[in-house]
Amino acid sequence: MSAIKPALMSDEAINSHAELAKSLLKQMTIAEKIGQMSQFMGHEGVIPEYLSLAIKQGKVGSVLNEVDVDTVNELQRIAIEESRLRIPLLIGRDVIHGFKTIFPIPLAQASSWSTEIIEQGAKISALEAASSGINWTFAPMIDISRDPRWGRIAESLGEDPFLCSTLGVAMVNGFQGDSLANKGSIAACAKHFAGYGASESGRDYNTTNIPENELRNVYLPPFKAAAEAGVATFMSSFSDLNGVPASGNEWLMQDILRGEWHYPGFVVSDWDSIRQLSIHGLTANDKDSACAAVTAGIDMEMVSTTYHDYLEQLVNEDKVNVAQLDVMVSRILTLKFELGLFSNPYTEPASYPQLLDDSSLKAAQNAAAKSCVLLKNDQQTLPLSTNGLNSIAVIGPLADDGYEQLGTWVFDGEAKHSQTCLQAIKQSVGENIEIHYCKALETTRSTNQQDFGEAVAKAKQADVAILVLGEESILSGEAHCRSNIDLPGSQEQLIAKIAQTGTPIVLVIMAGRPLTLEKILPQVDAILYAWHPGTMGGPAIADILFGKVNPSAKLPVTFPRNVGQIPLYYAQKHTGKPATQTSFVHMNDIPNRAPQTSLGMAATHLDTHFSPLFPFGFGLSYSTFEYADINLSSPAITFEQTLQISVTLTNTSDTAGDEIAQLYIRDLVASVTRPIKELKGFQTVQLSAGESKIITFTLTVQDLCFYDRKMQFRAETGTFQVFVGSDCQAALNCEFQLQGSTNEQ
Ligand code: GLC
Repeated sequence: MSAIKPALMSDEAINSHAELAKSLLKQMTIAEKIGQMSQFMGHEGVIPEYLSLAIKQGKVGSVLNEVDVDTVNELQRIAIEESRLRIPLLIGRDVIHGFKTIFPIPLAQASSWSTEIIEQGAKISALEAASSGINWTFAPMIDISRDPRWGRIAESLGEDPFLCSTLGVAMVNGFQGDSLANKGSIAACAKHFAGYGASESGRDYNTTNIPENELRNVYLPPFKAAAEAGVATFMSSFSDLNGVPASGNEWLMQDILRGEWHYPGFVVSDWDSIRQLSIHGLTANDKDSACAAVTAGIDMEMVSTTYHDYLEQLVNEDKVNVAQLDVMVSRILTLKFELGLFSNPYTEPASYPQLLDDSSLKAAQNAAAKSCVLLKNDQQTLPLSTNGLNSIAVIGPLADDGYEQLGTWVFDGEAKHSQTCLQAIKQSVGENIEIHYCKALETTRSTNQQDFGEAVAKAKQADVAILVLGEESILSGEAHCRSNIDLPGSQEQLIAKIAQTGTPIVLVIMAGRPLTLEKILPQVDAILYAWHPGTMGGPAIADILFGKVNPSAKLPVTFPRNVGQIPLYYAQKHTGKPATQTSFVHMNDIPNRAPQTSLGMAATHLDTHFSPLFPFGFGLSYSTFEYADINLSSPAITFEQTLQISVTLTNTSDTAGDEIAQLYIRDLVASVTRPIKELKGFQTVQLSAGESKIITFTLTVQDLCFYDRKMQFRAETGTFQVFVGSDCQAALNCEFQLQGSTNEQ
């Protein structure tokens, strides 16, 4: 397989940057080489003497978390004018879902299933960040996330390798543009390599034990796709992967990333994760940690200083060889050449568009509108018609909180720029409808119900009650994991009180994860899941509630009924005793003294139905859609052929709408068991009222490949099922054969 080349550049460009790096490398001392491998913290507009001195001495390759453009320019000036080799700095920042204009959290953006929306959001975020001198972001986070207890599911693109790969590449392209040298392009970073999302019990930083076959078929594909798309950097994970923490894992960083994928970019450690190798117990001390990380191939150390402190000593003791360092440093220098930093290290903010300009805010609002998932809409409660309403109650701690709606991983966005639900609802209805607002709870964690009486009174006098509940942003994100993922505080009690009034309830939920909603589901008439929707979340939500936007978003993760079902994801294996409707017996229905083997013997719980509350790919619309007439271009294909699958999709309602049609396969028999369904395609189809279209998907043999027992990536002959529908429970299906010789892909 040819080496993965950054898709952004021609061979000539790659070679010239690498050549420039090599020629610079020849002039560097060991200390200067190690300097390039060291990332220091910024100090919010201040340059401490130690940092200035270290830069002058060539001991700093990158600074993170400095966003004051004048300070960034001064840091660059010191590096360019006061160091011996005048090497500019990489300036890193977590621009995860926006810089000043905050887009919906990545998990929300993933609900759009739109590469265009994700690419545009990253592009705007990069441009805003670049105006502050930032030239490197630590995103996309493409950890497959199948445990909603884990706080970082909020930053992820969901549970599915195909969707996460597709959207992760779009984010890379958005950040990096057509060329890293372009104004407004910044280097992206595929993180956290690898398997971090499998942290046991959903506790962050916890151990991950992932069989190699599962790692290769589920957790690695998004990283391989990002590498093939030309992502400039990777970040190693904190987590212990099968006994060897990623930041010291030679198999991962050398055998896979370099040996199999031939990835040319550089790997930065996560924050302090190299020093943590001794805390894991992989090494005895910082010096050994530096040795283990360099040997594994971590090219740059984020914030901890084991390289700075011990690497030269390790070279002198022949425990690390200079040739190894040269390879690592040349990767870092090559990126600096690719970014054009040697020719243009300084930033002129006035030469960039204004932050939070109308087009950015419009894009953020569109992204939010396409990310809100309609989970329930009984008796077409939504959309609300302003004609038929005299009074609306708006209730809840998140209805008018511009800070919380921004979500986790927001360092530079500001609440003052947010437009809240309450503000947008008022603007949507104008003067002729009374709006009665009650926060009801101080925060989403509050249990002080003293204002419930006011909330109930306002609900009673209203035609409809819009409840805006969920999780504060601090309850998801890094290190913010929950063992119980119900609505926190007394929010469930609030719903119950409002439900007793008999006023219809529209529940808007803002959260950084799937929450367990089974208990409150019967008490509300409609649920719009807005995740944390960002700066323009309010208008986006209001446009959906009042019908200006017809929701089209689909879940990128499974919603469990309760936390006891976790892990619960659609691409489960079939098992030898699969859960079926007939095999499920609820505990309350078990006869007294039932004989040991009298209940269904299957992969079920006794106290919870085995199905999710809402499945992967699910999302309602104000339209209704029907899938029919599935046809294949052939009942069988060989390894050289492709398969076309066509389906008639009809909008059976009187409302125009977009449907995200999904294609899944099942490999019925293989040398390792395969999931009962695997997403292999999706497309958004616009249909006017009553309109039908024939939609077509194409499957290639590559789509049928998986890593087998010998970790060979290949397809196997045999029978496959193909499904097309509106979510992972798609029933419309037919079979096809893959025939011929098993190919080595
Ligand atoms: C954090 C996160 C990582 C982030 C880095 C820099 O601990 O794990 O995702 O990019 O440090 O802030």
